[in-house]
Amino acid sequence: MAEKKDDILLSIRGMCKSFGRNRVLDHINLDVKRGSVMGLMGENGAGKSTMMKCLFGTYQKDEGHIFLDGKEVSFSGPKDALENGIAMVHQELNQCLERSVVDNLFLGRYPVNSMGVIDEGRMKKEASDLFRKLGMTVNLTQPMRHMSVSQRQMCEIAKAISYNSKIIVLDEPTSSLTIPEVEKLFKMMAKLRDQGISLIYISHKMDEVFQICDEVSVLRDGNLVMTKSTKDTNLNELIAAMVGRSLENRFPPVDNKPKDVVLSIQHLFTKFEPHLQDVTFDVREGEIFGLYGLVGAGRTELMETIFGVRTRAAGRVYYNGRLMNFNNAKEAMEHGFAMITEERKANGLFLKGDLTFNTTIANLNYYKTGIALSEPKMVKATTKEIKTMRTKCMGPDDMISSLSGGNQQKVIFGKWLERDPKIFMMDEPTRGIDVGAKYEIYELIINMAKQGKTIIVVSSEMPEILGLTNRIGVMSNGHLSGIVNTKETNQEELLRLSAKYL
Ligand SMILES: Nc1ncnc2c1ncn2[C@@H]1O[C@H](COP(=O)(O)OP(=O)(O)OP(=O)(O)O)[C@@H](O)[C@H]1O
Ligand SMILES: [Mg+2]
Repeated sequence: MAEKKDDILLSIRGMCKSFGRNRVLDHINLDVKRGSVMGLMGENGAGKSTMMKCLFGTYQKDEGHIFLDGKEVSFSGPKDALENGIAMVHQELNQCLERSVVDNLFLGRYPVNSMGVIDEGRMKKEASDLFRKLGMTVNLTQPMRHMSVSQRQMCEIAKAISYNSKIIVLDEPTSSLTIPEVEKLFKMMAKLRDQGISLIYISHKMDEVFQICDEVSVLRDGNLVMTKSTKDTNLNELIAAMVGRSLENRFPPVDNKPKDVVLSIQHLFTKFEPHLQDVTFDVREGEIFGLYGLVGAGRTELMETIFGVRTRAAGRVYYNGRLMNFNNAKEAMEHGFAMITEERKANGLFLKGDLTFNTTIANLNYYKTGIALSEPKMVKATTKEIKTMRTKCMGPDDMISSLSGGNQQKVIFGKWLERDPKIFMMDEPTRGIDVGAKYEIYELIINMAKQGKTIIVVSSEMPEILGLTNRIGVMSNGHLSGIVNTKETNQEELLRLSAKYL
């Protein structure tokens, strides 16, 4: 293995790719050094995933050349790429949830013993070695669906590593990882890099890119507009390269004026893990109430219990003084409650439908003329939401599956906006969304609050929870360990409260 640091392992030359009339990649050149981490950044829809899929053989490029170790390669599909030293962790998890962890790890390449029988012992041993290296304890025989999203993501990463590839592409691998998991991943990445493996790392999280990447490249509208050593660039330069203008502030002013209490949560307990323990708090009309806490502290469970999709053991929810102990999501929605879930692909989208279908599905009653659904009304509403959310697409009849990950998320947001909810609960609303679009979503949330809507927002990102809310409730191990005014608190206090019941 060559030791020279600036020895190029992967070279992409003049790569082009279009989908119909939409030119997504325009003569891209990219060089990745051996034993280094290349960050790849860019707005939602800039072409990051498409570029990596063209490398990996998921898509066929229209033009251009790929050189691996000096030799030109062109992969007919992912299997071909894997066999030739390139592995990829996709932005969207694609796992067999009914199968075990080991099965998912070895799917399509089961090791066989001398009798030609699948060697389960070897599979388990290799799998447990791998997880040990990643510092994870996993029950290998449990079905995938029993694992949290973050554990499933770690399994995908473990799988990519297990191919002993020369190049590993990670497409937003940390979007649902916990802080300790991210640390483990970064350690693993550093180790791989030191072994001469090159990694391409796609992320919207600026601090991560500065922490782990040696170089960073920026894609904007299908053009590669910048490649620099991370040492030679900074946050502002990166943002400007991504959005094509400089962004003065990352948060708009939070100038909504909360009124009287509209929502009152009293002594909530839940039956199943993680247990909510006597959670009591009030939220005002037009308020943005943040929920902070470590992953697993019960924030999502709290929202789900209010929304009626998780079983209450005790406690009451009042809205405008009326008891609202919902038994299911339908009841909650009928009373003006909405919830954007954390695990969007599973719960929020119909991947076989188009944008119109996905935008209007939660509210079909609104789009009737007489008893029949009115297509023009549905298309009009969808067009409006595309505009509000600045969703990057060709039009309302695009298939949802043809949108970039971040833009799919905007469609879910638009769907709930269409319902015009009174109480809007959001679980990690900007996950996977680029800096520019994040700002727009913050503006939208603040404007909704100004119009008297009540927002409860879960976020694991400290700057976001501090930059967007009026008050913050901190969860710790099922307890609400404190409520603070955002203006008067700081990072330290939030962390202290999140550890209170550990
Ligand atoms: N299968 C497809 N069919 C049609 N258009 C597609 C398809 N895949 C991607 N596109 C389009 O290509 C463009 C780039 O998408 P891509 O997924 O590469 O963006 P991205 O940079 O990864 O964004 P994100 O940060 O949101 O993941 C988008 O406009 C998207 O709609
Ligand atoms: Mg992507």
